[in-house]
Amino acid sequence: MTVTVNGAVRTATVEPRRTLADFLRQDLGLTATHLGCEHGVCGACTVLLDGDTVRSCLALAVHADGHEVTTVEGIAEPGEMHPVQSALWESGAFQCGFCTPGFVMTIYGLEQDARAGRPCPRSRTEIREELSGNICRCSGYQAIVDGAEAALTAATATATTTTEGAR
Ligand code: FES
Ligand code: FES
Repeated sequence: MTVTVNGAVRTATVEPRRTLADFLRQDLGLTATHLGCEHGVCGACTVLLDGDTVRSCLALAVHADGHEVTTVEGIAEPGEMHPVQSALWESGAFQCGFCTPGFVMTIYGLEQDARAGRPCPRSRTEIREELSGNICRCSGYQAIVDGAEAALTAATATATTTTEGAR
């Protein structure tokens, strides 16, 4: 299979039953994608496949053949934080951090929609709904929603500014 991961083209031979998560973590060494439940419940393994969030513990690696995968390692330059990461950091959304890569990728997917002017959640209720597939077992959700709200508000403002600037 040939897959573009975080902008780099990778070619590999994989067993048909290998999950995308195991391919990323074990074959490519991208271990920031975490595995919690390994059956599609906790969201820790969330990555983007062609811009859409997927649970990499359920997706097979071969599903990514010919497609683009983005992991949390690929959203910012080394040593820097993406605005979604900064917003979560500033809101104090972490405790142990195990769930964090999954939350970051779910919010990043929404944030990319907001930047592009596509519909994205605005209210805290809508944000909670979108994050309902990600489970945190130690920090609680208030600060995570705070961070998501800040990131999405900033991204929406950017999109609005860009749109107005183009008029
Ligand atoms: S490890 Fe994939 S959803 Fe929990
Ligand atoms: S910060 Fe520990 S599980 Fe979420």
